[in-house]
Amino acid sequence: MDEKNWWRDAVVYQIYPRSFADSNADGIGDLNGIRAKVGYLRDLGVDAVWLSPFYPSALYDGGYDVDDYRAVDPRIGSIEDFDALVDALHAQGIKMIVDIVPNHSSIHHEWFQAALASPPGSPERDRYIFRDGLGPDKAIPPSDWGATFGGPAWEPVGDGQFYYHLFAPEQPDWNWDNPEVRADFLRTLRFWADHGVDGFRVDVAFGLAKDFSADPLPTAAQLAQIKAGPDHPYYDRDEVDDIYAEWRQVFDEYDPPRFAVGEVWVEIPSRRARYAVPTSLGQAFNFDLLRANFDAVNFFRIVDENLTSADEAGSSSTWVFSNHDVIRSATRLGLPPATPENSDIKNSQGTTWDRDRRWLLSGGTYLPLDAEAGLARSKAALAFALALPGSTYIYQGEELGLPEVLEIPDAERQDPAFYRNAGLEVGRDGCRVPLPWTPAGTSFGFGENGSHLPQPDWFGQYAVSIQADDPASTLAFFRKALALRKQLLPAAVDAHFAWHDSPPGTLHFSRGEWHTFTNFTDAPAPLPAGEILLSTAAPADVAPPNTTIWFR
Ligand code: NOJ
Repeated sequence: MDEKNWWRDAVVYQIYPRSFADSNADGIGDLNGIRAKVGYLRDLGVDAVWLSPFYPSALYDGGYDVDDYRAVDPRIGSIEDFDALVDALHAQGIKMIVDIVPNHSSIHHEWFQAALASPPGSPERDRYIFRDGLGPDKAIPPSDWGATFGGPAWEPVGDGQFYYHLFAPEQPDWNWDNPEVRADFLRTLRFWADHGVDGFRVDVAFGLAKDFSADPLPTAAQLAQIKAGPDHPYYDRDEVDDIYAEWRQVFDEYDPPRFAVGEVWVEIPSRRARYAVPTSLGQAFNFDLLRANFDAVNFFRIVDENLTSADEAGSSSTWVFSNHDVIRSATRLGLPPATPENSDIKNSQGTTWDRDRRWLLSGGTYLPLDAEAGLARSKAALAFALALPGSTYIYQGEELGLPEVLEIPDAERQDPAFYRNAGLEVGRDGCRVPLPWTPAGTSFGFGENGSHLPQPDWFGQYAVSIQADDPASTLAFFRKALALRKQLLPAAVDAHFAWHDSPPGTLHFSRGEWHTFTNFTDAPAPLPAGEILLSTAAPADVAPPNTTIWFR
């Protein structure tokens, strides 16, 4: 793989900085904490690290409310610490990707403060999305739309105007028709590229372009009927392409060109592919496997569709089972399959809640959990993905088989999805609990002085130090898998990808001599002939339930 295209087949490890490792005993993970663990990342064998936001932030949304895009939160470190981290990663051949949050800033951003201090119609307000209220007193919001974390999407500012926020009220949306906003983000991209980052993860990449010119705006009920795409006022409009074409020019100023992966919750693969073309971001997340039941028919369809669309886009596919927004895969895959019957409750915006949120809300009682099968399936799913063409994104703790944490007292929860959807959602804190590095200590080795989200007593049994010494551990398995993948990849990249016939409930594909077989069922399956290279469960003369096997 040439230096320019490293991202096409990369294993990218997502770090949620506040919850990875704490170097200064304040209970909050930081950049020096990450730097102290570069050896861990090297031994795991990842190609790149993606850092979730580490910018100054009041943490209304875990850092996705950015006060200043070109600085480091002092609680997380300094720009010198950032440079030192990039150098330490690069010294081990690990790339660095940073999160860019271009849909919204925080209310503390200086431009939002300037907008509040300026009158309606001013250039300062034009950088955000301000509209007059309706009715004689201008007291009625411009539309009845709901925000993603609950509550209305328009916030009054006291002078007859409202500003729009897709997420929390503390996250005002930028106006991407404003040239100053566009120019400022180009400056931010160059700033971080000049600090050595190799790429960007683009938050809500499908939401930047907006058209709120309809008068009146559609009602929430009408909006719910409009598909994401050119007719939707804010999801996946065609004009996003122009934004990323400009970004691409910046990426291409660098050698090698910087790359970006867009967070694109767009269901139609051909629409999603627009973000991944070489003249745009380069890659787009596909969350299809993350949302799918662990089932051979689903997995086959999803992989086939995404490989085709990545090919058509001139990109490579992405595979992901976990991130900081969803229930951890070792738990999710231990639940009974999602069905319309067990996933049909509504949240405050009237959208369908998935089975996972309903289960979390019940404190884990709503459906029975098979934790052992969950771990087996999450390992099998990840090993399946690691063998596919494309990049695999791993979320911190996934390599440990870490389950979701349910036992966080309400008073200690941080996620706005919990606070703003009272009684309807517990939010995403359960996958953001600081990692256990050692089996004991005030924070299981996360730091010297507790952790900003409480860790449960059972966390110690998943500790890195225990797993590192146990050849049968989940960590040992992934270290082996990533090392083997590195050996097999050069030949596989140029090899033909092929599906092979296999019994119902199983899938078998190959890339040259590298074959992968996954048994998605709860019963043993006949094992294909060949030399076994790796297995997620000890193979006998059959493929055990919920297992992936690499062989040649
Ligand atoms: C997606 C991020 O992954 C999520 O954590 C955040 O809450 C929203 N975008 C808003 O920035």
